[in-house]
Amino acid sequence: MTFSIGATGSGMGPGHALERFGSDEVEGRAFNAHVVVRFLAYLRPHWQRMAAAFLLTIIGAALALASPYLLKVAIDGYITGGDAAGLTRIALLMAGTFVGVYLTSAGQQYLLAWVGQRVLTTLRAHLFRHLQILPLGYHDTHIVGVTISRVINDVSVINDLLSQGLVTLISDTLVLGGIIVVMLSMSPRLALVTFSVLPLMLLATFLFARQARVAFRQTRSRIAAVVGDLAEDISGMRVIQAFAQEGATQERFDKVNRANRDAYIAAMSLSFVFLPSVEFLGMLATGVVLWFGGLTVARGELTLGVVVAFLAYVTRFFQPIQELSQLYTTLQAAMAGGERVLGILDTAPEVKDKPAAGEMPPIAGKVELRHVSFSYRGDTRVLHDVNLVIEPGQTVALVGPTGAGKTSIANLIARFYEVTEGAVLIDNVDVHDVTQRSLRRQMGLVPQDPFLFSGTVADNIRFGRPDTPIAEVEEAARLANSHDFITALPDGYNTEILEGGVNLSIGQRQLICIARAVLADPRILILDEATSSVDTMTEALIQDALRRLLAGRTAIVIAHRLSTVRNADAICVVNGGRIVERGRHEELLARDGLYRELYERQFVDIKTEVNN
Ligand SMILES: Nc1ncnc2c1ncn2[C@@H]1O[C@H](COP(=O)(O)OP(=O)(O)O)[C@@H](O)[C@H]1O
Ligand SMILES: [Mg+2]
Repeated sequence: MTFSIGATGSGMGPGHALERFGSDEVEGRAFNAHVVVRFLAYLRPHWQRMAAAFLLTIIGAALALASPYLLKVAIDGYITGGDAAGLTRIALLMAGTFVGVYLTSAGQQYLLAWVGQRVLTTLRAHLFRHLQILPLGYHDTHIVGVTISRVINDVSVINDLLSQGLVTLISDTLVLGGIIVVMLSMSPRLALVTFSVLPLMLLATFLFARQARVAFRQTRSRIAAVVGDLAEDISGMRVIQAFAQEGATQERFDKVNRANRDAYIAAMSLSFVFLPSVEFLGMLATGVVLWFGGLTVARGELTLGVVVAFLAYVTRFFQPIQELSQLYTTLQAAMAGGERVLGILDTAPEVKDKPAAGEMPPIAGKVELRHVSFSYRGDTRVLHDVNLVIEPGQTVALVGPTGAGKTSIANLIARFYEVTEGAVLIDNVDVHDVTQRSLRRQMGLVPQDPFLFSGTVADNIRFGRPDTPIAEVEEAARLANSHDFITALPDGYNTEILEGGVNLSIGQRQLICIARAVLADPRILILDEATSSVDTMTEALIQDALRRLLAGRTAIVIAHRLSTVRNADAICVVNGGRIVERGRHEELLARDGLYRELYERQFVDIKTEVNN
């Protein structure tokens, strides 16, 4: 049994995820106008509900401010004066404010949740839509787990800020400002004495915020590492088990997992230190009010009601400060998350349609590569000055050693990547000048690694045209010689395909992908090693199917087995990113070149296969 391990499976030391994800975190700014403006736009459609939530917030803040003041009125006005009727009125009023606070807060929370969840959904939808049009080059270079973390975690911290954060900011600022004003107006002297603890408070908050910023950023990057590691290891479970690397993988995961735990505990410890110290300062302020206020009352310079009201205000004073300092963390998380989400949203689809791009007219089928050079990411060239003309209806085979650049040529014809130099023309139209959709709709691709979605077999075949009736699906499957094996499956066409198509053999997956291409009925068909994973008997079936499928279409057939390309109108031998030989089978065999070498080596292989 042999496995080929892709680039993702090899050469990674323990704890790799930490490094990869750790570097991803940008230095957190607490405010970035660009980010805020971009995301505020998501609130715009819900402005009425947001306005209502703000209104309720303001009313709630005012009511919260009122009750200590009512306390003062009750004590100084009615208790001392023995006014029972007045006291009843005040008590009712106070109960009224409590009910009011409750109702406004319930309404506000409901509205915020309503808006918040909608913003979340819209933002995720936008992100997903953008991910779908990003060039494959983007997905080549971005770890799946990280992209998932953007769509799930980052979006949710942005939403925390947009919905809860903004309202907290406003209500806390109002409450804080209101308390200060009310205190100053009741007794400037006692107010100033009470505020003497403020510098300590601000210092503690400032120190905390600075530490917390680092700590919370750590936890976020570490949880992304856990998610990333998990995603990768689960996808690679087969390889892990085959190489009996469960122990090593477990260790690696444990390391990432523990790092996350430690970062979280460190962040929480900060809160554990900070919150009691804020409480302590609160008690200190209460003591100061009691002592200084009490003395002032004893001297007859202040009423008892004012001191009691002060005591009540002091307890309300510190909660907004705490919340605001936590908001600072939320703000930073949201800015960092926002920058990363914008990073995706602003990644221009590298393969972008020109503004003036028109629709590709119905394709006749001429394909031309004109002096095409190509590199995947501005690094080494993988294709050098490739020239190729395929007339409508012709079948051209690309053969050559692994890594020669065959798939890359196919990728450029399907316009998954942009050529670095030269041009790809279809019916003499530069593919650059037409929309990708109109182009791809007329092209079919059977990729090298046949991909199936979860869903039924039938749904996978009609993936490109979901409304196709089952009769046509079956017809396509028959053409692709897949009908027999499909009907032999437990539920026939309704058999559910497990994630990644694991309940089918690779050959069966390839057959389904061929049926999918048949159904799409494209003018140009690209088959990338579509028969590489089937046995020789199935291959004969597929050959038979392909003959029917290719009739009248332009086809680019990349083949591993040279027996499959014998009948091609032309064979191009690709090596080192260049087309080094071209001609028909017999011509190439007569030449003493690479084709002949490949052919003879394979012929030997086949003979040994037969003899064994
Ligand atoms: N997505 C990619 N990003 C970067 N390099 C790639 C990518 N795909 C292929 N390559 C490189 O391009 C070269 C040609 O690969 P490819 O066209 O897949 O070869 P073939 O299909 O002939 O086996 C190889 O050197 C390979 O490493
Ligand atoms: Mg290939």
